[in-house]
Amino acid sequence: MTSNALSVVVLVSGSGSNLQTLTDQQNSLGIRISAVVSNRSDAYGLTRARLANIPAITLNHKDYPNREQYDADLIQCIDQHSPALVILAGFMRILTPALTQYYHGRMLNIHPSLLPKYKGLHTHRRALEAGDSEHGVTVHFVTEELDGGAPIIQARVKIKASDTEETLRQRVLTQEHRIYPTAVAWFAQGRLKLLNNSAYLDGVPLPESGYDYPVEASTEQP
Ligand code: GAR
Repeated sequence: MTSNALSVVVLVSGSGSNLQTLTDQQNSLGIRISAVVSNRSDAYGLTRARLANIPAITLNHKDYPNREQYDADLIQCIDQHSPALVILAGFMRILTPALTQYYHGRMLNIHPSLLPKYKGLHTHRRALEAGDSEHGVTVHFVTEELDGGAPIIQARVKIKASDTEETLRQRVLTQEHRIYPTAVAWFAQGRLKLLNNSAYLDGVPLPESGYDYPVEASTEQP
């Protein structure tokens, strides 16, 4: 690993497949994952971190009386590792304004929908129930508004008549594993910035819904 790798902290609540993708590509992305933090001790993402010799920390939200106190401790926990970037990879918590403002411009999230559509939970089910012809995933900067920060990259997935929530989730996840590393590499290379609540790549504003990532038919298979 190069010594000028960007220090990042990754936050997870569940399986951590996006974390795994980033872990596997640390060298080529120019990052060093300094710690993985979870609000759930049973998150498999913590096991993935331990297997990769990355410090794995649980900060259980159930030990706190409110979001403000949890997020205050979360900031302290993250900052012990002095990250230049904080990556939310399936971290299923609503964040306080104090936390989002503190990491303004240096916190990314991945959300399984074509934002601004389907903020919140059960995005695959909602896309299917709405009869949409396409679904997808967005990487965006984190701001105060839930799933509302400036989009960086989107990947689109065609919805098939035979799709179930699970088959659609899998195809979207395949694209997640392509676009998150791309966005993280851009940030590590100093090419990606948040300015006046818009995402800029190489000094040029990205489209309002983010860079439209080309999805090859071959990578759309479950
Ligand atoms: C991913 O699908 C990610 O987009 C989603 O959680 C999953 C985590 O999977 N995030 C959200 O819904 C955030 N609102 P993973 O643990 O296997 O990376």
